[in-house]
Amino acid sequence: MMNICIVGAGYVGLTTAAALAEFGHDVLCVDIEQSKIDMLNQGLIPIYEPGLEELIRKNVQNGNLHFSFDVKEGIKNNQIIQIAVGTPPKKDGSSDLGYIHNVIEVVHSTIQDYKIVITKSTVPPGTNEWIHQRFLDEGIDEKLFDIVSNPEFLREGIALWDIFHPNKIVFGTRTKRPIKVLKKLYQSGRAPVIFTSLTGAEMIKYASNAFLATKISFANETARICDAYNVEYSDVALGLGTDPRIGRDFLKAGLGFGGSCLPKDLRSLMYSAQRKNVDTRLLDAVLEINNTQVELYLKKLNTHLPDFKGKRITVWGVTFKPNTDDLRFSPAIALISELVNKGANVHTYDPIVQLQLPAICSHANQNESITNSDALIIATEWEQFLNSNWAEVKSRMSGSIILDARNCLDAETIRKNGLIYLGVGRR
Ligand code: UDX
Ligand code: UDX
Repeated sequence: MMNICIVGAGYVGLTTAAALAEFGHDVLCVDIEQSKIDMLNQGLIPIYEPGLEELIRKNVQNGNLHFSFDVKEGIKNNQIIQIAVGTPPKKDGSSDLGYIHNVIEVVHSTIQDYKIVITKSTVPPGTNEWIHQRFLDEGIDEKLFDIVSNPEFLREGIALWDIFHPNKIVFGTRTKRPIKVLKKLYQSGRAPVIFTSLTGAEMIKYASNAFLATKISFANETARICDAYNVEYSDVALGLGTDPRIGRDFLKAGLGFGGSCLPKDLRSLMYSAQRKNVDTRLLDAVLEINNTQVELYLKKLNTHLPDFKGKRITVWGVTFKPNTDDLRFSPAIALISELVNKGANVHTYDPIVQLQLPAICSHANQNESITNSDALIIATEWEQFLNSNWAEVKSRMSGSIILDARNCLDAETIRKNGLIYLGVGRR
C-alpha cells in the first residue's frame, strides 16, 4: 500500500484515483476547483462516466480515497505525486503546459523529502526532461526526486474497463531508482509493462493517438471511395478488420474523431515535429480528412435537401462519442454550428447533455425533438438511437430524411418505415 496524491480531478485524475484506491492504495485526489471537491465530498461526481460514481463512493467509504482542494498540503504530505491536470491546445496546435508548470512550482516550494513525480497528463516530447531540469535549476538535490512519465490510455465512456484491463502500462524514467515502486502501483494483469526513457513514454502516447486518428481517417477516406462505387463500407471494414495485422478497432467511418485527446494530440505531435523540421505530410492528411467530414455529410444531406434555410433539422447526439457527457471538440457541435450558419432551424436531443447554444432548441424528450422535422441526423451513436421506433419517427416528422452520420443504423429497417436513409458508404 502506498500513499498517493493525484493532482486534477478530471476524467483521467478521477478514474485513476478510484482505480488506485480500489487496488488498496491510500489516495488523496486534489483539485484547485473547490466546487468540484465539494461535490465529490458529498458523494457526487462532476462528470458522467459509467460506474465511476459507485466506485468512488465505495472507496471513500472504506477509507482509501479522499478529496481536498488544498493542493499544496496534498503534495507536501505524499511521496508519490501523480499529475493529471489538463494540457489544452493553444491556437497554434501546441499544448498549453501552464497547469503542469503550476503543479511543478508547488512541488518545488514544498519538497522536503524524496518524491516520485509522475506525469499522467499528455505532454509533448521533451516535457518531462524539462521538468527534471527545472528541479535541478531550483537547486533541488537529485537524491530528492525522480520524474516519471506514465501516460494514460483510457477511453472516456469505458474508462473503468480500460483501467482495470489495460493492454499496456508505460513508464518513462531517467534511472532505475523508481522502478521498484512503480511496479507496485497498478495491477497490470497480463498487460506488458514497458519501461523506456521519459521522452520515449511521451512519444508512445502521441504515436498511439496519432495512429488511431490515422486509422479513422483511413476509414473515412475508404468510405468515400466506397460511396462513389455504391459499395457497403461496413462489409469492407469487416473484411479489413479480420486481418490481425490490421485489426477490427477504429475502422468506423462517420463524422470523424473528436474529444479532448485525438485532435489535440495529433496537432501537438505535428507541432513538435515541425519545430524540429520533421515533415508531417501523413499526419497533415489525417487532420485534413477529419476536418472535411462535416462538410461531406452536409453535402450528402444536400442531395435530398438542397437548401437548409428555414428547414427544421434535428440532430440526435451532441457529445463527441456515446456514453460520455464530454463536448470537447465534438464533431456533432461542428455540424450543428454549420447547420445554424446555413440558416437551418436546429433542434437537438442527447441522452445526457442539454446543449446550451444560441439559435438552437435543445429537447429533453427524444420524440418531441423530431416533431415536424424535415430531416434527422444521427451525429453520435448512442445505443438508444439504434432501437428507435421508426414508425413513430416517420409519423412525427414532416419530412422523411434520416442522415446516419455514424453508420450505426440498419438502412433496410429505416426504408421499410417509409423513410429515406442517407449515409456515406452505405447501400
Ligand atoms: C487529461 C490529461 O491530463 C490531459 O493531458 C489529456 O490530454 C487528457 O486527459 P482530463 O482529465 O480530460 O485531462 O482534464 P480535465 O477533465 O480538464 O481535468 C483536469 C483537472 O485538473 C480539472 O478538474 C482542473 O480543475 C484541475 N487542475 C487544473 C488543478 O487541479 N490544478 C491546476 O493547476 C490546473
Ligand atoms: C482516446 C484514446 O482512444 C485513448 O487511448 C486515450 O487515452 C485518450 O484518447 P477518447 O478520446 O476517450 O480516447 O475516445 P476514442 O474512443 O478514442 O474516440 C475518439 C473519437 O474517435 C470519437 O469522436 C469517436 O467517435 C471517433 N471514432 C472512434 C471514430 O470515428 N471511428 C472509430 O472507429 C473509433
